[in-house]
Amino acid sequence: MIPSRFVRHSLLVLCLSLISTGIFAQAADYEPEVGQEGKDVIWVPTCQVLVDKMLDMAKVTPQDYLIDLGSGDGRLVITAAKRGARALGIEYNPDMVALSKRNAAKERVIDKAQFIKADIFESDFSQATVITMFLLPEINLKLRPQILNLKPGTRIVSNSFTMEEWAADETAIVEANDCGSYSTALLWIVPAKVEGIWKLPQGELTLKQTFQTFSGTLKSDAKTVPITNGKLNGDLISFSIGSTHYNGRVTGSTIQGTYRSGGKTVNWNATQVGK
Ligand SMILES: C[S@@+](CC[C@H](N)C(=O)[O-])C[C@H]1O[C@@H](n2cnc3c(N)ncnc32)[C@H](O)[C@@H]1O
Repeated sequence: MIPSRFVRHSLLVLCLSLISTGIFAQAADYEPEVGQEGKDVIWVPTCQVLVDKMLDMAKVTPQDYLIDLGSGDGRLVITAAKRGARALGIEYNPDMVALSKRNAAKERVIDKAQFIKADIFESDFSQATVITMFLLPEINLKLRPQILNLKPGTRIVSNSFTMEEWAADETAIVEANDCGSYSTALLWIVPAKVEGIWKLPQGELTLKQTFQTFSGTLKSDAKTVPITNGKLNGDLISFSIGSTHYNGRVTGSTIQGTYRSGGKTVNWNATQVGK
């Protein structure tokens, strides 16, 4: 009884190990094909020269948390992890997720590089300080409201595709044969939201915002003067009124900053009183 049970058990163990070896051998052999179907976008890898350029433009440091939306074979996440950043790849294709994990292990960055099998449209990427993507213009557009709600200053880098009328803050083109027609990197910095009415000691500012630019007026006493050169770089704000140039930092519903007057630096601050 006992010997036959032992034989049965040994056979079972042998079968299971043969099956699992087969499965793992098959998984380890998985070779993605450029152009293969993806849920919303096919897989085409970003060439390494452009990966490096995208991370340079985003100024990725070990303090960053980068999320690649549709991470393919994991190259952006792995390269960011090699720069010391924590990085996450969100990828719908489970074979690509498994491949990315193996690639991260080969590059010895599994402590920094993580991958999950998920749909980008059902994922929370609000904790990212840098977002990378190589999707399609219509997908970028669908994600745009969520991206504009990220913390001001979050850097967004896209391989080739734009955000329609939200103009990029910076664009660069790399030259490398293996990049084909995908050789452009575009960077956006999520701007603080400043549209509305702000109270200053000098009067009332009314701002109308279009992504990282804004226009408006300053109303003081009986005078209303236009604002020019309104610009946001994350939470940093700058604009001119006449020949005076104002700088500041937006923190929620307050702005604190400086302007130059009569050769002196003067502090100014504003509080938002209406949308
Ligand atoms: C053009 S590839 C870019 C891969 C990688 N980011 C790179 O730059 O090398 C797009 C990737 O997005 C994945 N993808 C498509 N739709 C997705 C979705 N809804 N959620 C998550 N991943 C998706 C595809 O499987 C593919 O790997």
